[in-house]
Amino acid sequence: MINQSREATDREIEEICRVLNQRLGFNYTLQKKYLVQSRLNKRLNDLNLNSYQAYMDLVKQDLGEFNKLVSLVTTNVTSFFREADQFQILRQELLPNILANIKKDNKIRCWSAGCSSGEEAYTLAIVINETLEKGWDLRVLASDISTVKLKEGMAGIYPQERMVRIPQELQGKYFTPLIRNPGYYQVKPGLRDQICFRKLNLVEAMDVPDRIRFDLILCRNVFIYLTPRYQEKAINSFYYYLKDKGYLFLGHSESLNYEDQRWIPLKKSIYRKM
Ligand SMILES: C[S@@+](CC[C@H](N)C(=O)[O-])C[C@H]1O[C@@H](n2cnc3c(N)ncnc32)[C@H](O)[C@@H]1O
Repeated sequence: MINQSREATDREIEEICRVLNQRLGFNYTLQKKYLVQSRLNKRLNDLNLNSYQAYMDLVKQDLGEFNKLVSLVTTNVTSFFREADQFQILRQELLPNILANIKKDNKIRCWSAGCSSGEEAYTLAIVINETLEKGWDLRVLASDISTVKLKEGMAGIYPQERMVRIPQELQGKYFTPLIRNPGYYQVKPGLRDQICFRKLNLVEAMDVPDRIRFDLILCRNVFIYLTPRYQEKAINSFYYYLKDKGYLFLGHSESLNYEDQRWIPLKKSIYRKM
């Protein structure tokens, strides 16, 4: 099939942005025209559709296609040990406080919110496993809006080039090379079992079991998408779901409003709930 290049009208782009902004709290504007167009053009070709309007008519009727749209227009860049200094601070400075804050049981509960294809959640679990002695019960909720990325995370299969930041001895301990698929590695079951992948939209009421309170929440490099209003909504959810004295990690370029007195700023975009 010939890959046709279609020009979207400004109105069509505005309609796509409106739907994304309304459903996901994004702040997309006409400035995203070329990004949206370049990401969707192939999809229109695959579906044999002539216009972006026809595509949006389909998106409005078909949740599966809406999910596909979200996966195509979001940027899911991530990596193992991304912004690694935060994991070092976690290991050296914060984990002793987290453990001291766990009173009744030996459960550690963490949440990687906006986990993309899972590297962040797996890194977090590896770092905690490597620091703790045996006997702790660690679980990480890994959530994202993109079903495509969540599936990748669940499979836990990564090409060699995405593994370079994982120290060699940890690669051997937590990953198995795939004989059938040379150059690819899969997360071993013990680590995979600690992570629960789930689709959650951070700007809607979230289906997180109400009895759970987290010791640590990572929401890194997600706020870039959200309007300040929806950022605030997500922050309020994190505040609610964190234990007292729990920690919130944002991306390096992200910060909380300094007027929000509910949080103590530590360093490197890390905050502690009052
Ligand atoms: C750039 S990635 C960051 C991945 C990881 N946290 C990191 O720092 O490496 C941003 C992720 O946020 C997700 N995202 C964007 N808006 C969201 C929303 N409203 N609810 C849940 N996830 C969202 C995107 O699908 C994407 O996978």
